[in-house]
Amino acid sequence: MAPKQALAYDNLDSRGEGNVRRLKRDAQATISCESNLKFMRSLPDESMNLIVTSPPYNIGKAYEKRTSQEKYVEDQAACIAEAVRLLAPNGSICWQVGNHVDNGEIFPLDIMLYPLFKHHGLQLRNRIVWTFGHGLHCQRRFSGRHETILWFTKTDDYTFNLDPVRVPSKYPNKKHFKGPNKGELSSNPLGKNPSDVWDIPNVKSNHVEKTDHPCQFPIGLVERLVLALTNEGESVLDPYLGVGSSAIAALKHNRNAYGCDLDKGYIDIAWDRIHQFRAGTLRTRPMNKPVYDPDAK
Ligand SMILES: C[S@@+](CC[C@H](N)C(=O)[O-])C[C@H]1O[C@@H](n2cnc3c(N)ncnc32)[C@H](O)[C@@H]1O
Repeated sequence: MAPKQALAYDNLDSRGEGNVRRLKRDAQATISCESNLKFMRSLPDESMNLIVTSPPYNIGKAYEKRTSQEKYVEDQAACIAEAVRLLAPNGSICWQVGNHVDNGEIFPLDIMLYPLFKHHGLQLRNRIVWTFGHGLHCQRRFSGRHETILWFTKTDDYTFNLDPVRVPSKYPNKKHFKGPNKGELSSNPLGKNPSDVWDIPNVKSNHVEKTDHPCQFPIGLVERLVLALTNEGESVLDPYLGVGSSAIAALKHNRNAYGCDLDKGYIDIAWDRIHQFRAGTLRTRPMNKPVYDPDAK
């Protein structure tokens, strides 16, 4: 059987920039530069096992136009309705958001958007807190150092693989000191549940994954969701794909990647990253690498 990477090399496109060539197609990635409603409407019902994304926060970033909160929620509702249509019965939706900010007042987007998911009968399994070290230093409130991921399922019969995402136990050699299992290891040798608080560095200037995108996902964050919530060969969609971090996370673990973004520059970077990934030259931060602690001994 040909190696998996070879699948990707039949569609190279010369960009005319030195020797840099970019993939235009990939056997496992379907990526498009268009609005998510248009892209999603072209996909069949219940065809996605995981829909993971981070939408704009309506705070005036380079890639969005600030609008009223009502209009923002209406737009999110339309995208979420399509996501629910595309979700397989055993699938999951993970909506990663922070705060909308208006005149110094914060509006947590998970609180604002939660009713839109409940409207479709989805069930919340975790509200994961993603904490990170870098961001704005606020003067009139505490600096924000976390965002959240709302993880919803469509039914009670959902995929959840804990073993591939276990993290090292704090005391792996601890043993039961009494009872029938006395002397045996008390913790799971594969490690422990990573919990619903994830300390993963956000992608700022010195991060190995940094591109021109101002708010990209760390690939390791999406990898944990891909491994826990899907199986090999299944499909992962990001309707606000940016520079393709979710697609890379999916491809890394032999899942099919789907995604779109309105910005051609970001989609070009996404294809470049896929090309580098297939060529084995894409640098990524390992999924469970501990956060650097200058005080650690
Ligand atoms: C927070 S960023 C997502 C970044 C992404 N997680 C990554 O790792 O690169 C939101 C993205 O949504 C895109 N976007 C905004 N409105 C869109 C729409 N209606 N359809 C598709 N993409 C859209 C923006 O261009 C932006 O790249």
